[in-house]
Amino acid sequence: MTILAIETSCDETSCAILKDDTLLSNIVSTQMEVHAQYGGVMPEVASRLHIEKITIVINEALESAGVSLDDIDAFAVTRGPGLVGALHVGLVAAKTLAMLYKKPLIPVHHLAAHIYANAYVKPLQFPLLALVVSGGNTELVYMKEDLDFKIIGETRDDAIGECYDKVARVLGLSYPGGVPIDNLAKRGKCTYKLPRPLHSDGTYDFSYSGLKTNVINLVHSLEQKGEEVNVPDMCASFQKVAIAQVVDKTIAAIKDYNIKNVVVCGGVSANSYLRERMSEECAKLGVDLTIPPLWCTTDNAAMVAKLGARLYEKGICAPLSVAADPNWRIEDYKVF
Ligand code: KG4
Repeated sequence: MTILAIETSCDETSCAILKDDTLLSNIVSTQMEVHAQYGGVMPEVASRLHIEKITIVINEALESAGVSLDDIDAFAVTRGPGLVGALHVGLVAAKTLAMLYKKPLIPVHHLAAHIYANAYVKPLQFPLLALVVSGGNTELVYMKEDLDFKIIGETRDDAIGECYDKVARVLGLSYPGGVPIDNLAKRGKCTYKLPRPLHSDGTYDFSYSGLKTNVINLVHSLEQKGEEVNVPDMCASFQKVAIAQVVDKTIAAIKDYNIKNVVVCGGVSANSYLRERMSEECAKLGVDLTIPPLWCTTDNAAMVAKLGARLYEKGICAPLSVAADPNWRIEDYKVF
């Protein structure tokens, strides 16, 4: 079975080829540098750049895998959630190929694909708890069995990655803010006092908007007083609180649901402190933890191919009339 997968949900244009369990190619063209000048992703610019890149990226993936379109058994594509215009470009490309080559079209949920990226490390074992942390999402997903998703906690406002990016901006750091904050935090001390939102509130929900506002207000008030902001210390103080929230909620859910297998995924799963804290806590609890390799934490089509293959085996495909769904809930991944 050979799957061609496409991902264009945000600012990466990607195409991967998966043959049985072997990833033959995974080409990722990122738009990050273009969006960096605006301090965030500009949706209209993202769609235009996907249009420019999609054919080039597909051809490169086929060439690098040494296969032709005639060898492909199914076309998997991210259908949502994401930026509607960006999703549309990938979906139209996949639909066109599925129609021309008369092969199934497999619509893939972006966050579910992030979870299944961990299957490149080792087979997923159920029941499983997934912590999904990215620029647009912060969710705890309980999976009783394969392809069964239940959101038990989610952010009530901002996503954790979005919070990293906004805090980085007020500190004058580059976009996206996760990596510079993560690096500077290693040199800083937790000298600034910041609140811990939704701490011990008895839910698995998250909140990052208050923390973001607190950092922004603190930085502005220090500047108004003519005091210099110690950027490494601010990064360390912020990161400690931001990561504590996801770790604490995940640990609570592990205990309440009697979980033995945990996966972490999404762009923020690249965070070194999150990896360290989750490893420590899971080791203490005797829980098996899987974190994707760094190449697979950001958006890519390899993860779409992995889940696409699983859906193909289960016979889950969609008609060519299927539309992009920017707000697709992971629990509805079979509803087209
Ligand atoms: O999953 P992803 O690639 O795409 C979107 O959801 O858009 O996640 C991107 C997010 C950005 O907010 C970025 O700042 C964050 O992941 N990120 C990190 C780190 N590396 C990337 N956040 C914290 N620490 C990191 N090392």
